[in-house]
Amino acid sequence: MAVSRKVRGFMDQGGWIRRMFETGIVLKARYGEDKVFDLSLGNPVVEPPEQFKRELLRLAEHPVKGMHRYMPNAGYPETRQAVADGLKADTGLPFTGGDVVMTCGAAAALNVVLKTILNPGEEVIILSPYFVEYGYYIDNHGGAAVVVPTGADFQPDLAAIAAAINPKTRAVIINSPNNPSGVVYPAARLRGLGDLLGQKQDENGSEIFIISDEPYRRIIYDGLTYPQVFPHYQNTVVVHSHAKDLALPGERIGYIAVHPSYPHREELVNGLTFCNRTLGFVNAPALMQHAVRALQGVSVDVADYQRKRDYLYGQLTEMGYSVVKPQGAFYLFPRSPTEDDVAFVDALQEWNVLAVPGRGFGKPGYFRVSYCVEDRDLEGAMEGFAGAARRFG
Ligand SMILES: Cc1ncc(COP(=O)(O)O)c(C=O)c1O
Repeated sequence: MAVSRKVRGFMDQGGWIRRMFETGIVLKARYGEDKVFDLSLGNPVVEPPEQFKRELLRLAEHPVKGMHRYMPNAGYPETRQAVADGLKADTGLPFTGGDVVMTCGAAAALNVVLKTILNPGEEVIILSPYFVEYGYYIDNHGGAAVVVPTGADFQPDLAAIAAAINPKTRAVIINSPNNPSGVVYPAARLRGLGDLLGQKQDENGSEIFIISDEPYRRIIYDGLTYPQVFPHYQNTVVVHSHAKDLALPGERIGYIAVHPSYPHREELVNGLTFCNRTLGFVNAPALMQHAVRALQGVSVDVADYQRKRDYLYGQLTEMGYSVVKPQGAFYLFPRSPTEDDVAFVDALQEWNVLAVPGRGFGKPGYFRVSYCVEDRDLEGAMEGFAGAARRFG
């Protein structure tokens, strides 16, 4: 067998999003591209902001000598400083470039953090519904994922997290705005989580990190100011990516930021830099590091996503779907009208609508729809949602 037993098992069991992708290819070949309404992917259809194009043109016309060479593994000092300046403005905390490591997106950043902090068998708490790759990333580095369900509002359930913590707990991964639910965690809940982890560290004589996965931090609605995690807990590591806020998922650019008051900050950053290198990423793409340096405060047009959210939320609730109204990211996570979320998603395919069953995120009985798509795909999917709602009552 070419593939290891473990990887074979993961490939067989996992990958609802990939399965939907493959179903989409089949349906599109059979019925035509414009007859299939694919709401299964988090791949934004919007183009990057104009400023990004201007940066690329500027770099092409005025190249910096040596700009394509190897560099320090943590990234260009100027880019790390620009990220730190942005974080300082957003959080009021005294970040410096030394607190930042540039990475190949959030996926690489999460792997680098987990590789750096995990001893074999240590546990990482993830909150369901969760981004499905977390389980694989934790496994990559010898850790064990411990799944703790969120409440009915998809907010972290502090009592349930407290009950799951033991001396082997090394980290809690949180993700706000959340994929797949779209909810944003309010400051009071983050403060509660910080207090809880601080208390558990003291009780267990252990060190527990919050790994805050924030690729959707700038995709928030209703005039909300992003509730930052950093102010509530010193042992916080934030992972960010420009995949969503600058619509650059294919360019693989993001970063890790360590709380400036974390007591072992220098050792941790050295470890992160070492793991960025030895996991084989070596460094984040040079051209992208040059390009995003001047774009730290820039983001895609969030008003357009909010308009799509309002349309989709309005339509689905009118049809009788039960949905927690999201305040960020670009997903809705409604309750499936039948407990069998796979049967429901299969039924949607009869109308050529693709969505992802909740069990793909550790939460059966729900389904995820992504609205980072063209309006015509959203509008075209409505007949299917209405038909499937009628079928399952
Ligand atoms: C919650 C979450 N974390 C991490 C990632 C990975 O982002 P990146 O493309 O920057 O690796 C995604 C991508 O969709 C995501 O939704």
